Amino acid sequence: MTIAEKARLAMFFGRLAVKERLAPRLHVRPLVAELFLTDNCNLRCTSCGCWTANTKGELSTGEWRDVLRQLVALRIHKVNFTGGEPLLRPDAIGLMAYARSAGVRHLHLNSNGIRLTPAVLEEVIAAGVRSFNVSVDGPTALVHDRIRGRLGAFATTTEHLRHLIAERDRHRLKVRMNFTVMRDNVDSLPAIAALAQELDVTLYLNLVTDRTFLFRTDAVTDQTAVDRGRLDAALAELERMARRDRRRLPRYSDLRYLRGHFSDLVQRDLPCAESQLKLMIHSQGQVGGCWAHDPTATVRARTLAEIVDAPEYREEHARLFRKECVGCGSNYSLNLRWRPGTYLADLQWRAGRRSLAV
Ligand SMILES: C[S@@+](CC[C@H](N)C(=O)[O-])C[C@H]1O[C@@H](n2cnc3c(N)ncnc32)[C@H](O)[C@@H]1O
Ligand code: SF4
Ligand code: SF4
Repeated sequence: MTIAEKARLAMFFGRLAVKERLAPRLHVRPLVAELFLTDNCNLRCTSCGCWTANTKGELSTGEWRDVLRQLVALRIHKVNFTGGEPLLRPDAIGLMAYARSAGVRHLHLNSNGIRLTPAVLEEVIAAGVRSFNVSVDGPTALVHDRIRGRLGAFATTTEHLRHLIAERDRHRLKVRMNFTVMRDNVDSLPAIAALAQELDVTLYLNLVTDRTFLFRTDAVTDQTAVDRGRLDAALAELERMARRDRRRLPRYSDLRYLRGHFSDLVQRDLPCAESQLKLMIHSQGQVGGCWAHDPTATVRARTLAEIVDAPEYREEHARLFRKECVGCGSNYSLNLRWRPGTYLADLQWRAGRRSLAV
């Protein structure tokens, strides 16, 4: 990140601090765009509804290119490609390259890793992507394949992830392994932490929710029923591991939030920076809202600048920031990152004065 970009990010969080304490209606423009290139998928995860229908009428290559040009005009600093499985779209890598040539400085890809073969990875890197999240929902094939609905998924994804990690230094890539904590894998928390340390990759613990668009199915609701005793036991073991070796593991404040998620989905004392940072653009062009609040505008009817500057958008975003929302836990780690108290809590934990076993 350049000094100018760091300054912009600091300004963004500074404005959020003003919004929180002094000016609740202050407009904070998004810095990151989340593009759901497609809602379709090649896996059948029990935690997700993407694969249950075949979404039609998704934005065409030309429409996505237009969106990307508009994002550059809005001074969006980073574009995340996601889905569904973004690599299913034949034009996905072309769109990444187009984004870079149009002037988007930072590109990120979320993927289940199945199509991220060494050859595809080379193209994705050549297109300018330098940051990756690869989802691994279990430390073994038994756990991962059961959740992801496809035999052999673990072997393919971890093979591609290992290759991605091997390429990390050469291309200065940022790589995270995303594990979504849910009923069927909560016991695997210590083992996934051990796998992250073995692979030498940062572990991000995503939190299952059935509130977010794409995830509103009965099977997902079942996965949100995480047993408190099993969660506490798994976290206690993870905490013991982290006290021995914190490398690549989530910090104490993240784990504390995770522990609270399954009893209080909203955690309203922590404002939602995520809803302010990101502009979500859905596969059929809907824009706005946040992860769990549906958009009402579409790029097929209005420009992005018109949507973002409209009073409805500003009012909704003021409410979402205050968490007058259904709650979802999406990107809770970002919400914690700009709270100075969380760093103090981490230091106290390291000194042995705090523990997850409250
Ligand atoms: C919807 S996927 C899209 C990208 C890609 N298909 C993948 O699986 O990584 C983005 C992230 O959402 C996570 N996820 C799936 N179901 C979820 C749920 N019910 N609640 C929260 N996150 C979920 C996935 O594990 C993945 O890390
Ligand atoms: S979580 Fe990702 S891989 Fe799984 S069904 Fe949803 S979009 Fe597909
Ligand atoms: S926590 Fe609330 S405001 Fe933030 S993304 Fe989730 S539903 Fe939206």
